[in-house]
Amino acid sequence: MKKVSFAEFGGPDVLRLIDAEEPHAGPGQIRIAVRAAGVNPVDWRIREGQVLGAHPTTLPAGVGIDAAGVVDEVGEGVEGVEAGDHVFGEGADTYAEFAVLGAWARMPDGLSFEEAAGYPSVVETALRVLREVGVEPGETLLVSGASGGVGSAVLQIARDRGIKVIGTASAANQEYLRGLGALATTYGDGWAGRVRELGRVDAALDLSGSGVIPELVELTGDPRRVITIADLGAGEFGVRFSGVAGSVPDALAEAADLITRGKLHIPVEKAYTLAEAAAAHIDSKAGHTRGRRVIVV
Ligand SMILES: NC(=O)c1ccc[n+]([C@@H]2O[C@H](COP(=O)([O-])OP(=O)(O)OC[C@H]3O[C@@H](n4cnc5c(N)ncnc54)[C@H](OP(=O)(O)O)[C@@H]3O)[C@@H](O)[C@H]2O)c1
Repeated sequence: MKKVSFAEFGGPDVLRLIDAEEPHAGPGQIRIAVRAAGVNPVDWRIREGQVLGAHPTTLPAGVGIDAAGVVDEVGEGVEGVEAGDHVFGEGADTYAEFAVLGAWARMPDGLSFEEAAGYPSVVETALRVLREVGVEPGETLLVSGASGGVGSAVLQIARDRGIKVIGTASAANQEYLRGLGALATTYGDGWAGRVRELGRVDAALDLSGSGVIPELVELTGDPRRVITIADLGAGEFGVRFSGVAGSVPDALAEAADLITRGKLHIPVEKAYTLAEAAAAHIDSKAGHTRGRRVIVV
């Protein structure tokens, strides 16, 4: 099968489209014929060798954790899914023609493979950080970096739960945030003052790691009401870094429910082929994705 792989850590040029052995589903796993794979910032962070503590990587390595496709092998002990089912979920080396998933859910009707591949890890992250920051219906949540994959999921899940959201994004994404039910303002000089004009803030999420932790603590008045997923220096201000994946199967089921109820839709900004994986990584690293980028197989 064709698979994207890298034999050394480095820039996007280390990615190769190679012929590889097909993987097989072990106990508790399924294998899918991949139709699309989600592109996440962690994919290029792993390729650069930045996150070896959290993601131990043996070379040569494959790329990708999110995928959607058609089940073609069911591992020992797995029930409730059979060959031919359309699923989306998380696994390993998903930028490939076949991949093994350890967590999955049936794709909601009407969702394309391309769209479905964009949901798994951003929805898991969004549900996790909303739980960890402990925001309640009726409270106001500030989301710094609200227009990317995780932000798009957080805004819509918060709206569904009756949580008011103020989001920051570039000028180009202000209408996008408003369309997801948030009050919006731009990041950059004077941003905290603009947020204050929009209302009081009970809790805050830093989704972009742009050095805003002191202001988020000041706006909420309590470092325990701030969570970051992108700033490793946040502990200095008493703010928690959320980095450990939670319950992925439950998150996928909740994603499917939200999508089916019409409460969650994350747009695909751009689709790439397997051979264009390096371009997908360059575009993701540029840091201004609206919604999601995916690889279509
Ligand atoms: N710890 C975890 O569990 C975990 C899980 C998932 C992701 N992450 C990390 O969290 C980050 C976000 O992930 P993602 O998938 O949502 O990324 P993404 O889809 O690439 O989105 C990045 C967003 O950051 C915004 N942004 C860029 N510069 C900004 C600034 N100076 N201030 C505020 N926002 C800014 C962009 O908005 P504009 O286009 O409007 O500029 C863009 O929408 C990444 O660093 C990723 O590695 C961590």
